[in-house]
Amino acid sequence: VPSTLLLRYAPHRAASRVRVARGGLAQLGSEVRRTTGARRAVMVSDPIVAALWAGAAARSLARAGVACDLVVVPAGERSKSARQLAALWQGFGRLGIGRGDTVVALGGGVVGDLAGFAAATWLRGVAWVAAPTSLLAQVDSSVGGKTAIDLASGKNLAGAFHQPRAVVVDPDVLGTLPERHLRAGLAEVAKMGMAVDAALFRRLEVRSDLALARDLDALEDLVVRSIRAKARIVLGDEREREGGRRTALNYGHTLAHALEACLGYRRWLHGEAVAVGMRVAGVLSRDVAGLPESDRARQDALLDRLGLPARIPRLAAGDLLAAMSGDKKARNGRIRWVLTPRMGHASVPRLIPGRRVEAALLEAGARA
Ligand SMILES: NC(=O)c1ccc[n+]([C@@H]2O[C@H](COP(=O)([O-])OP(=O)(O)OC[C@H]3O[C@@H](n4cnc5c(N)ncnc54)[C@H](O)[C@@H]3O)[C@@H](O)[C@H]2O)c1
Ligand SMILES: [Zn+2]
Repeated sequence: VPSTLLLRYAPHRAASRVRVARGGLAQLGSEVRRTTGARRAVMVSDPIVAALWAGAAARSLARAGVACDLVVVPAGERSKSARQLAALWQGFGRLGIGRGDTVVALGGGVVGDLAGFAAATWLRGVAWVAAPTSLLAQVDSSVGGKTAIDLASGKNLAGAFHQPRAVVVDPDVLGTLPERHLRAGLAEVAKMGMAVDAALFRRLEVRSDLALARDLDALEDLVVRSIRAKARIVLGDEREREGGRRTALNYGHTLAHALEACLGYRRWLHGEAVAVGMRVAGVLSRDVAGLPESDRARQDALLDRLGLPARIPRLAAGDLLAAMSGDKKARNGRIRWVLTPRMGHASVPRLIPGRRVEAALLEAGARA
């Protein structure tokens, strides 16, 4: 069932039109025209997605009277870099992208975060439209306006809030998504459930087999529910205020971001790191926040069913602690964690003693 959401943001009145519909990529051009008025676009993608879907996207833009050039960045997390950002700026400059033109991000969360940040900074901000093609980008990263690149010292350290004018979500493109990325996207759905929507968690529990079998109607249903859950949260706290509701969505991410940084943004996918981060957040939630053991076990059973990693790879607990707190002496300090006392009710971050976090990391497989 096609579904259209209009998200209005106070106080500066940015609005994102989010449309989820099977076959919806064919409407990319009309959505761009309708929400930006642009007659010219630069489409950013990676080579894998471009080979599969840029043709259909470009045809839709052409039908709507939008001229379009394609700029490609290498696939993978390591493209969320200052170097690729500068390469995009140079590409926009070469093409003469002006204030009335628009950036279209066709790809996963990497392309979305990078192209969105390039749009936020090009000429101090031009319009952009997200056409998310990975499950992770469809359920999570394309909504909410966070754009960023990674630095060696940490993930997403340089970025901007810049809402896309439109988010065009076509579940049919998930038909070509590699299985490992499908699983990684389902990790963020499980996170959304644990953090803010217990009904979504139950839905995923019941339909995990259909989702893994790539039933596109089941995936569309999970995408719509995830976007609605995320929209509810980010509409009330667009800029993630200190202690605001949006911080709940970082459940599992304290450790996830540290794992990714310690692995040099290689080997593990973001969603895989989130799964292990959730498991440790589950243990801390039980021990510190009163999450019932049965709910913690349910979380881990679902992550198991989704085939997501359970253990921390061969990394030293001390290095992870340092990455989590940006502090070499983290063991004695306290670290911010989003915990949940009940399924679907993650709270604002709490400060957890480094020693306690270290014990949980060791239990999850980190080296002493
Ligand atoms: N901005 C946010 O709010 C937010 C939220 C969550 C995650 N993120 C970020 O998202 C990033 C991860 O995104 P991702 O998992 O989508 O990674 P990704 O962009 O690297 O995409 C995953 C892989 O799948 C391929 N791919 C994408 N769509 C495909 C399709 N339809 N068919 C075939 N192949 C396809 C891509 O080429 C890539 O190799 C991380 O950097 C994470 O920090 C951002
Ligand atoms: Zn995430």
